[in-house]
Amino acid sequence: MFNAKEFIENSLKEIREIVGDKKVISACSGGVDSTVTTYLVHKAVGKKLIAIFIDDGLRREGEPEFVMRVLKSFGVKSRYVDAKKEFFEVFKGKTDAEEKRKAFRDKFYKTLGKVAKEEKIDFIAQGTIKADVIETTQGIKSQHNVLSQIGINPEIYGYKILEPLRELFKPEVREVGRELGLPAEVTERMPFPGPALSLRVLGIVTPERVAIVRKATQIVEEETRGLGTFQNFAVLHNDKATGIKNGKRVYGDIITVRIVESVDAVTAKAKQVPYEKLWRISKRITDEIPSVVRCLYDITDKPPSTIEFE
Ligand code: XMP
Repeated sequence: MFNAKEFIENSLKEIREIVGDKKVISACSGGVDSTVTTYLVHKAVGKKLIAIFIDDGLRREGEPEFVMRVLKSFGVKSRYVDAKKEFFEVFKGKTDAEEKRKAFRDKFYKTLGKVAKEEKIDFIAQGTIKADVIETTQGIKSQHNVLSQIGINPEIYGYKILEPLRELFKPEVREVGRELGLPAEVTERMPFPGPALSLRVLGIVTPERVAIVRKATQIVEEETRGLGTFQNFAVLHNDKATGIKNGKRVYGDIITVRIVESVDAVTAKAKQVPYEKLWRISKRITDEIPSVVRCLYDITDKPPSTIEFE
């Protein structure tokens, strides 16, 4: 039986021993894993930690403000890093899912490395959890945050890695967060992939296409609050379909809505959402996003699908 209190005690001790009088940086995306990691390290080493939020331009509506507010309220020394332009630059011309993941990962570490040098730190803390390690070592996909496990030497990026949650699964991470006294708006958050909306824009990733999926995501989240599902989101397709907007036939965008129940993301079930709710989501997405002419609901379980489309 997992004991969060014991885990925290051991972790704090271990982190203090490893870090000593050196400095740590933690890239906090606002997700459960990276936020719990950040707060855990903050508790262990206090001001020797600087938390940064890398704004890659791929986050959900209001997310940068949310993360900075949360960090501030915890008393964590923090810094906002605007890297939107640079991230979109690396996605240019890339349509393949794995290539996009790798481009994201490289840019992420380069950005982090740059800030780490500026801040003269020695350690990077990150929220890698057990599932990331398993999926990467099994070759299911390359998680953006698993380095040592796939034979990449973090030293080439110029720092050492601290991964205090690497042995935990998501429910345990949430327990640790609760035990640490983090608010429910953090500990009970839906999982959100590291490469963020770049995985939900099929094909080429541009600021304009991300803006479409960001708005659709906001609508899905607003309309599905209280469903208690594991993940609720929108995906922008790479192809187009015919529709009618303002009385004219147009060739417009297609959005798929995905709402799944799951415990650990290893398997998932498409949620049987009441038709009225689905209809409302479709109506809002096609009304509020000018380019979208069609909205689909994904009824496939995992397996054979994955939760994300990429
Ligand atoms: P799949 O799509 O493989 O996803 O069923 C399982 C869980 O992992 C999340 N996911 C990711 N998380 N980097 C992440 O940090 C990634 O590249 C990534 N891909 C998928 C997904 O949202 C789901 O919760």
